Amino acid sequence: MTISDNNTIVIFGASGDLTFRKLIPALYHLYASNQLSESFSILGVSRSQYDDESYREKMKKSLQEMEKTDPETLIAFCEHLHYQAVNTSDVDDYSKLAVKLDLLADKYQLEQQNTLFYLATPPSLYGVIPACLAAHGLNDESNGWKRLIIEKPFGYDLESAQSLDKEIHNHFQEHQIYRIDHYLGKETVQNLLVLRFSNAMFEPLWNRNFIDYVEITGAEFLGVEERGGYYDGSGAVRDMFQNHLLQVLAMVGMEPPAQINADSIRDEVVKVLQCLKPLEEDDLRKNLVLGQYTASDVRGQQLAGYREEHGVADDSRTETYIGLKAYINNWRWNGVPFYVRTGKRLPTRVTEIVIHFKQTPHPVFGQNAPENKLIIRIQPDEGIQMSFGLKEPGAGFKAKEVKMNFSYADLQETQMLTAYERLLLDALNGDATLFARTDAVEACWKYVQPILDFKQDPQSLFGYACGTWGPQEADELLQRDDRAWRFPCKNLTDTDYCEL
Ligand code: BG6
Repeated sequence: MTISDNNTIVIFGASGDLTFRKLIPALYHLYASNQLSESFSILGVSRSQYDDESYREKMKKSLQEMEKTDPETLIAFCEHLHYQAVNTSDVDDYSKLAVKLDLLADKYQLEQQNTLFYLATPPSLYGVIPACLAAHGLNDESNGWKRLIIEKPFGYDLESAQSLDKEIHNHFQEHQIYRIDHYLGKETVQNLLVLRFSNAMFEPLWNRNFIDYVEITGAEFLGVEERGGYYDGSGAVRDMFQNHLLQVLAMVGMEPPAQINADSIRDEVVKVLQCLKPLEEDDLRKNLVLGQYTASDVRGQQLAGYREEHGVADDSRTETYIGLKAYINNWRWNGVPFYVRTGKRLPTRVTEIVIHFKQTPHPVFGQNAPENKLIIRIQPDEGIQMSFGLKEPGAGFKAKEVKMNFSYADLQETQMLTAYERLLLDALNGDATLFARTDAVEACWKYVQPILDFKQDPQSLFGYACGTWGPQEADELLQRDDRAWRFPCKNLTDTDYCEL
């Protein structure tokens, strides 16, 4: 898909990590595959002092180090890069930005000044930048669209998210605001909609009558790396659960949209998030497990505990793991537990959903009938595995569990867009379907607010050794219900061993 409107992409935080690691590579790939508009420019903005040339050099070097690039394409792409140093908290300084945008509009012969502002900055600037842009008329759509992409975290808790939203809405309207959640840009997350709503085979069973429980896992092997300073003020609840995992849960739980468009889909997403059973004192004590990783030897490598990480307080009580039993209080899901977990320094990196179906009404082949299970693997080794029972060959009628696997790698269309490529493309095309709407963000914060309050409780945190599947208490969460978490491996189809 190519973008029809010529445009300028302004990246605030142009000298930051996200810009080097994700945004510029995504834009390069879109350019290399001819998916950007005929005429476009990318303007980096931050406090650092670069000019067009030195910024191009820096980006070129980082692209060469990180990506497979074609020399000619790379040179051509870098020609579209420009830079403007701006003190982003000084409203007067934005006049430089306005002048530069006019110059670019002339240079690229833009009839309309369509502009996408990407806020890849510290969250403290999310309210400031829109106000400063507006002070210079850069929110005015009379001469072309003006859109804002805002990175997570959108707020720090319910109250701050609400006030940030109000602040931004003073200057930009909802149709101009794109709150990014890169999980929604993942091909396999979007596939949940297609799998559920384009097959007559799954949807009739997708409810409390046939589903026993659902597991959602977002595991990472990496620790906090160089981001200790940020992470220590955030924790797994704000960093992964409030946004990415609740969005995935919404995709699993939502009702079919009336149509495939931004409003219809997001209407259904918000409805299911609003149906999450509010967490009460009893749930927080019994159905929630927060953990923090401790030092350990993993596969021959000595890994530091969270408190020894750079930028983390020695006595930090920040959680690097959350496991929760959640319920959706609606007609479809009443009484079906959703066990959701995410953590750093777990045995492997894997994101997946496991749908556990109920047993047959009458166990004619004995009590130990194989489970019917659908595993939807989001990453890595993207695919789907279905387990069900078949007759074990030989005498008698003994049922045995067998599996059917689908792997994304087997599809002919191998060129999958990365999450950032897809989302940048959508924002440039004005398609907000895969961006979080204000009411959904608010519903997520509302749901997690009791957890944020509970985190203050001194007894709320359990330790777990690096390379294990979280605190023992997280296992007990399921054991109490006569269930167990799946032990996923990096390969979807390896189920006979557990990666420890
Ligand atoms: C980010 C979090 O939003 O998502 C990181 O801030 C986390 O802490 C990352 O590592 C995980 O994303 P992915 O795409 O690697 O699963």
